[in-house]
Amino acid sequence: MITREKLKQLWKKFYINHGFKEISSSSIVPENDPTVLFTTAGMHPLVPYLLGEKHPSGDKIFNVQRCLRTNDIDEVGDESHLSMFEMLGNWTLGSCNKREMIKLSFEFLTSKEYLDIPVERLAVTVFEGDQTAPRDEEAYNAWKECGISQIFYMPKEDNWWALGSGIGPCGPDTEMFFDTGKEKCGPNCSPACHCGKYIEIWNDVFMQYRVDEVGGRAKPLQHPNIDTGMGLERTIAILNGASSLYDFGTFKQVIDFIEQKADVKYSQDEKSRNSYRVIADHLRAATFILGDEKGILPSNLGQGYVLRRFIRRAVNHARNIGFDTKYFSDIIDIYVEEFGKDYSDISKNTLLIKEELNKEITKFSKALEEGHKEFEKVIKGIEKHIEFASKNGEIVERKISGKSAFRLYDTFGFPFELTKELANERGYKVDKEEFDQKFKEHQEKSRDQSNKVFKGGLADTSNQSARLHTATHLLLAGLQHFYGKDVVQKGSNITPERLRFDFNLDHKMTEKEIADVENFVNDAIERAIPVRCDIMSLDMARNQGAHGSFNDRYGQEVKVYTIGDVSKEICGGPHANNTSELHHFKIIKEESCASGIRRIKAILD
Ligand code: ALA
Repeated sequence: MITREKLKQLWKKFYINHGFKEISSSSIVPENDPTVLFTTAGMHPLVPYLLGEKHPSGDKIFNVQRCLRTNDIDEVGDESHLSMFEMLGNWTLGSCNKREMIKLSFEFLTSKEYLDIPVERLAVTVFEGDQTAPRDEEAYNAWKECGISQIFYMPKEDNWWALGSGIGPCGPDTEMFFDTGKEKCGPNCSPACHCGKYIEIWNDVFMQYRVDEVGGRAKPLQHPNIDTGMGLERTIAILNGASSLYDFGTFKQVIDFIEQKADVKYSQDEKSRNSYRVIADHLRAATFILGDEKGILPSNLGQGYVLRRFIRRAVNHARNIGFDTKYFSDIIDIYVEEFGKDYSDISKNTLLIKEELNKEITKFSKALEEGHKEFEKVIKGIEKHIEFASKNGEIVERKISGKSAFRLYDTFGFPFELTKELANERGYKVDKEEFDQKFKEHQEKSRDQSNKVFKGGLADTSNQSARLHTATHLLLAGLQHFYGKDVVQKGSNITPERLRFDFNLDHKMTEKEIADVENFVNDAIERAIPVRCDIMSLDMARNQGAHGSFNDRYGQEVKVYTIGDVSKEICGGPHANNTSELHHFKIIKEESCASGIRRIKAILD
């Protein structure tokens, strides 16, 4: 049995042996990045470095990154989809030697000392080429030299990486699959057909081109990179011959625990099994989000909304199998025990995770009560309609429309099954077809939205983002100047339009205080101070009095940004080169954000 711990160890050993430096996992909630709600891949926190910023740990780095993807949330519960997962990643910055990287991937996958996967059980895909970029023969040949026989050429939709806008850095990738040994599903069976024969485990992305206009020809990139990412859970499943991601490790532990308490057994039927898995997956995701140092709580917006959905869906699925939500806390304990070792914010915040989880469960049960009232109203409305129609000799079916059922779902959190159950008790039917239609429309809308967040593209906004980033440092310096050094950053978020900054303060800022802080920042802007970046050890940064949270987010070497005598902070960047690029700073809002925490929104004009 290869455990999570063992796989991580092998990963570390292999890349250290090959001259790569380990960097720490970033937060699951991205900082200062308006383009995504959550960290969706190991490359994500590294975008500034992929675009040419120098990384403090050098140009060959690797890590294990906690990630979260919500695109496939409705698929969670099958054999192979998870929302939260860990990605084994490595990066070569500033160069793109495909042959060397493919050889490394091959060696890790097949050598006895590492994963020991038989060569004949591997299949790979490479980019077939089109009018904008050539066929990736270099990758093809490198795989051939390794002795892989199952090499498939694939089009852009399968083997091309680009920023969402399609403009900027981009390039072909090569994906590695495990061949389960199942029969081919047909003469054209390939990794692209998703029949279950091939399972994707790893992706090497060659960021070697740039495109300047949509559909334009790919030109060589000045600063090419290689970004690779391997799914940790999937790889463990394959190495252990498991057919599902839920059959080993903490998932198995959680499922066994639920089985002791639930009314329905795991293997009862597909629906119950699915509910077990959704509870296991969603509570793990909720543990990571609630435990994150960014302090995300359930709400109706952004990350908070995703968190709310995870918790409420878990509650609904618990109901399906007769599992009492009071045991959710025990499941949190199982996850904290396993992951708290690697992600200290999770172990630090265990109590908070449980408290907030329970608060949300209570809120949800109140919403459900409201939903019951709403359900009665819907029934009353239909009864009235029936009565009215019967006077005219018409017969109306006792049926709740899909629209009403969807409203109950969307606004009051009623799962369709619950509406159906209550309806049946009253001798009513529910229009499932219309419900499904509404559900699909809604799903597409939210998928578009999350894609849109991603498609904003950091590259497109990096200049503005850098300016606002620098303004954030000046703002903290200003707050500390007036209120003392105890004021620290409690949260930060940057969109192309504005910065948002949370900090501790025991009162509402007066107009005068706001004006003082604005003047402080604008004074620094007018002085046109150069912004300097130094790479140094974490200890040295601490000794120099740099601000920043000194926790496990940082690697050994860090970047310290110094703005004259005004500010010194540990930060990944990117930043403006000179404060004069900021023009003029204005606070547009100052409000309470949580007890003892204030929130400022500010713009540059
Ligand atoms: N960033 C690449 C991926 O997510 C490795 O597949």
